[in-house]
Amino acid sequence: MQERLNIVPFVSVDHMMKLVLATGVERFLIELAAYIEEDFRRWECFDKTPRIASHSAEGVIELMPTSDGEAYGFKYVNGHPKNTRFGRQTVTAFGVLADVGNGYPILLTEMTILTALRTAAMSAVAAKYLAPKGARTMAMIGNGAQSEFQAIAFKAILGVDKLRLYDIDPSATARCQKNLAGMGFEITACSSSQEAVEGAEIVTTVTADKQYATILTDNMVGPGIHINAVGGDCPGKTELHRDILLRSDIFVEYPPQTRIEGEIQQLDPDHPVTELWKVITGQVPGRSGGRQITLFDSVGFAIEDFSALRYVRDRLKETGLYEELDLLADPDEPRDLFGMILRAAKPTPVAATVGAL
Ligand SMILES: NC(=O)c1ccc[n+]([C@@H]2O[C@H](COP(=O)([O-])OP(=O)(O)OC[C@H]3O[C@@H](n4cnc5c(N)ncnc54)[C@H](O)[C@@H]3O)[C@@H](O)[C@H]2O)c1
Repeated sequence: MQERLNIVPFVSVDHMMKLVLATGVERFLIELAAYIEEDFRRWECFDKTPRIASHSAEGVIELMPTSDGEAYGFKYVNGHPKNTRFGRQTVTAFGVLADVGNGYPILLTEMTILTALRTAAMSAVAAKYLAPKGARTMAMIGNGAQSEFQAIAFKAILGVDKLRLYDIDPSATARCQKNLAGMGFEITACSSSQEAVEGAEIVTTVTADKQYATILTDNMVGPGIHINAVGGDCPGKTELHRDILLRSDIFVEYPPQTRIEGEIQQLDPDHPVTELWKVITGQVPGRSGGRQITLFDSVGFAIEDFSALRYVRDRLKETGLYEELDLLADPDEPRDLFGMILRAAKPTPVAATVGAL
């Protein structure tokens, strides 16, 4: 790929959609989940830092960097829950992968679609270790942009094929139900969170609200279920009543970030939590009992985006679904950056001839 040093492969939204369609959403999610698991197994070799967040009254803009020593990746992502009222997405993102050896970017890609895919793949990976074995019914509260991706990942990776949907906006539920039609789900549209969780072995909360919300109250959570809490991912933005947290075994991505952003911001700073990578590497158990309530307090961590960037980068070679972006200044003599600009100003012989006519 990348023969000229100034060129960086760029995956536009259009190319990302083509990549997802050419691959198949289920296969994409399964393969992406495998990349995430692979990176969680080598967790200790990554640079880790809580993401760098810039908060405002309306939302947040965040940078999420990490490196495994060979490649460096970061994602720019926003979260603005009121955006949908004005025709914009709540979450948009783009990201970069770079070569640590020379610092040159090797991929620039849209990550709005990719974030939805990686969040869903991450949720399903966590549930593989934490949800009751053989679970087939999932309640999904919040039926916005992330929701179909979550549903398809749980079907592809765990075999979940019964969905119980609820959203405060019935049109969101109707859209989600319509988009998932014909994909092998039995779908029930519910009129409350309470109704949605009835009979569910897995409960996914994926709502957007910039405040402490209570999507689930303690009485809705019976023994033995797995909660996949995706929407609470910022200081002051949570979805679960605190009492649920006190009854659950809590699994997190990176504790220093989750304690700031996750459901556990409601708890004491030393409340015990388990790091998911330790479950994946077999150092600590995941689900250990039939009545245990497991909670994946998802906030989204940089390593998952790194896995997604790695996956897309690997797929480009075979699909060619990218553009060549003239992103990096590349003078013939590396130190002659200014001279390169001067040379660009000089008319070419052809232009000079045309001008003389
Ligand atoms: N953990 C992660 O890794 C991760 C990644 C991406 C997005 N997120 C978060 O997931 C959430 C959803 O993102 P999205 O892009 O789908 O947003 P979205 O705005 O497209 O959808 C959110 C949906 O939640 C519904 N909702 C709001 N309050 C509700 C309530 N009280 N009960 C039921 N439904 C309610 C809204 O009507 C809307 O349909 C956001 O909070 C986002 O920040 C987390």
